[in-house]
Amino acid sequence: MNKDSLTITDNRTGKTYEIPVANDTVHATDLRQIKVKDDDFGMMTYDPSFMNTALCKSSITFIDGDKGILRYRGYPIEQLAEHCSYLEVSYLILHGELPTSAQLEQWTSEVKMHTFVHENIKRLMQGFRYDAHPMGMFVSTVAALSTFYPEAGDIFSEEKRRKQVLRLIGKVPTVAAFAYRNSTGMPYVYPDNDLTFTGNFLSMMFRAGSNRYKPHPVLEQALDKLFILHADHELNCSTTAMRNVGSSHVDPFSATAAAAAALYGPLHGGANEAVLRMLDHIGDISQIPAFIKGVKAGEGKLMGFGHRVYKNFDPRANVIKKLAEDVFEVTGRNPKLDIALELERIALQDDYFIKRKLYPNVDFYSGLIYQAIGFPVQMFPVLFAIPRTSGWIAHWQEMLNDAEQKIARPRQVYIGSPKRDFVPIEKRR
Ligand code: CMC
Repeated sequence: MNKDSLTITDNRTGKTYEIPVANDTVHATDLRQIKVKDDDFGMMTYDPSFMNTALCKSSITFIDGDKGILRYRGYPIEQLAEHCSYLEVSYLILHGELPTSAQLEQWTSEVKMHTFVHENIKRLMQGFRYDAHPMGMFVSTVAALSTFYPEAGDIFSEEKRRKQVLRLIGKVPTVAAFAYRNSTGMPYVYPDNDLTFTGNFLSMMFRAGSNRYKPHPVLEQALDKLFILHADHELNCSTTAMRNVGSSHVDPFSATAAAAAALYGPLHGGANEAVLRMLDHIGDISQIPAFIKGVKAGEGKLMGFGHRVYKNFDPRANVIKKLAEDVFEVTGRNPKLDIALELERIALQDDYFIKRKLYPNVDFYSGLIYQAIGFPVQMFPVLFAIPRTSGWIAHWQEMLNDAEQKIARPRQVYIGSPKRDFVPIEKRR
């Protein structure tokens, strides 16, 4: 008997099956041979919310949730955050290797060449209401980009695909900043490509009048590091959406818009916004015990706590806590930090959170930094989407080049009515 296998006995029939095991997984379709009657469909796995299903083989990001490990292409996130720029990490995620100086220079200049958007994109964005949520604008505008680049549909041309990759990475900060300027009624600011990727984004956000914008180096670096921390996180909800939608062979702008829509939700990229709203709602340290009591009674969640994968600590949260200190030295302490620290202290000692392995995640402190830099809360999920675009595209390309991947199409367990005959409307009760 092959040792790398499972032996399964079906007690309904007494039959035994040998199912090969590779990478600690069994191939779900190998279970289909397990049948009671010849014309049965065959055994499936039932896995709502993909709690224990590997969707693909991937060499982009490694996470060990129990040990609190996150690596991009093998490199620990802590080292990348310390030594790299976001564009360097974006190159790594997309190409598999860290760039040489020449490669980074070329990559940076190519991305910068694609930071401008068509004037009609600007006009399209101006059509949104003054109070439109910037993430809603972001999702719609990224989808609209596909109409400006019809060749993006030619997804199996490596050359054309590369062009869309550069366009997406280059344009998402511009779309994000325009969405913000729309809400403030300020004129949109065009890209300034003499600045860094992140410095230019800050300029498009905050530049006022005709003076050139000079980002504060500490804030620019902090935001760049936050971009690194958010660049990929393997098969989270939005990346799964990117792969699923992309598996229909739609263009990458439409698939990215779908991924961004998934990120918008408060259980995913919308959580950093929800954390700030929660801290506002708590208002004062004295209210924390009552708030925690409410959470434990099921009246709401402690936003920024808990993770599907990390059950020990989120390594990104550790880096962010340190970053917060650098930023607050420049901007002054965000008064909500004290509420957050006390919330964390109380929650980490509470049996409810200990038993369920609930720890602060990346979103618990990132919002406080964003707010200190000057971003309004509605921009928080958009700030997540800018760097995550690199991860989404890397997964999309990996999926397209993976011969094992087909259009995503899960199965269901049907629990509805058995066959019944049509009833004319006058006879229905
Ligand atoms: N506050 C209070 N209770 C919680 C929380 C929380 N933040 N998170 C999970 N629980 C409880 C949950 O009610 C359940 O309790 P019980 O066993 O009594 O029913 C138990 O812990 C297990 O939770 P779950 O909902 O089964 O866990 P999940 O893996 O499905 O959900 C999660 C993961 C991140 C959606 C969830 O922890 C959550 O909603 N957290 C708050 C939102 C948040 O911060 N999201 C950002 C995630 S990190 C950034 C990203 O990847 O987007």
